[in-house]
Amino acid sequence: MAKKTLIVYYSFEGNVDYVAGEVRRYLRLAMQKLVPEEEPPKSALKKFLIGGKDALTKKEVKLKTLQYRPEDYDTVIIACPVWAGTYPPAIAAFLKQYPFSGKDVYLIGASAGGNASKMFEKLKGELSGNTVKDTLSLKSPLKNKQAVTEQVGDFCRKNGL
Ligand SMILES: Cc1cc2nc3c(=O)[nH]c(=O)nc-3n(C[C@H](O)[C@H](O)[C@H](O)COP(=O)(O)O)c2cc1C
Repeated sequence: MAKKTLIVYYSFEGNVDYVAGEVRRYLRLAMQKLVPEEEPPKSALKKFLIGGKDALTKKEVKLKTLQYRPEDYDTVIIACPVWAGTYPPAIAAFLKQYPFSGKDVYLIGASAGGNASKMFEKLKGELSGNTVKDTLSLKSPLKNKQAVTEQVGDFCRKNGL
């Protein structure tokens, strides 16, 4: 039987929305966007100050109810932006409210710098009991659409997804 795959993702400014859409071009999968009830202001300075602090202090946010839950899938892809070197509060809330284990997990991170390795290490620390099979770090996807499409395609093929 075909493996069932879920992508759980959060996007504040559209980059990871784009990435999730690209993943769907390659895979049959359920898509669950995380929608927190509260987000930082969008203004240029405040978003970094407040969003960065919220991420570092693990601010608790409430998520709108999920349509798809990780327990129903064999493989879970988690995709999110890097915020202040770590994952945003929506992802922290997801991992706390919907704990899961025994899954094959893939991590996709989008960032301005293009290196999500610190965030991946932190996420791995929250995913014990699962197997993190591979990670993909993407730089500013909306500014690098073609490269990102290729990177996502390579990632899916190489992992047999
Ligand atoms: C609050 C906040 C903190 C950020 N911190 C980082 C960071 O530490 N390193 C980095 O390279 N990019 C950082 N960025 C940039 C985002 O990771 C990048 O723009 C990403 O592509 C955004 O994805 P999204 O459009 O799906 O929200 C930050 C952006 C925000 C809003």
